[in-house]
Amino acid sequence: MDRRTFLAGVGLGYVATTLPSCRLLSAGVAQGRPVSPIAVPSGGVPVGSLTALDQAGFLLDTSNPFGPVLVVRDPANPATVLAVDPTCPHAGCQVDWQGDRDSFVCPCHAATFTAAGTVTGGPTRQNLVAYETRIDNDTIFIEPGANPPPTQPDARYRDDDDDDRDDNDDDGRGDRDDNDDDHDD
Ligand code: FES
Repeated sequence: MDRRTFLAGVGLGYVATTLPSCRLLSAGVAQGRPVSPIAVPSGGVPVGSLTALDQAGFLLDTSNPFGPVLVVRDPANPATVLAVDPTCPHAGCQVDWQGDRDSFVCPCHAATFTAAGTVTGGPTRQNLVAYETRIDNDTIFIEPGANPPPTQPDARYRDDDDDDRDDNDDDGRGDRDDNDDDHDD
């Protein structure tokens, strides 16, 4: 049993035995991830406090039944918070919050994401899994939510010409060949 399955099971048992009214949802299914059903109480699952978030600049909950959850203030509306699964969709590293850039940044291959989890750069076209959030006094709750809308593939990773050349280089610039004109002067 892997860690995520175990945690999902723990969360299911915990919630089922402590809360009389809850609904079963398959967190992550909308994102195409095989995740066990998790009992989600109406109102969501608590992930921590606003006080703790503001002290550290972010809130990381690694014992949540959904798996790891990273919560930050919404840079566009600091009265609200945004929550994502910090697992990078590229190769599974855990992204970090960089408040000075209003971005999640992956330490492995430098993928970047907005605070809402939308990919903005790096070697992936997939967004982070995002959750709905709710604040009740000082406590933050999450519920499963849709991923941020898919983004168009970054032009750096698009190879829609007919040649066999791999345009997906690592320098972040296009492979435009300025010497390929066939004009005979
Ligand atoms: Fe995050 Fe590769 S694992 S960019």
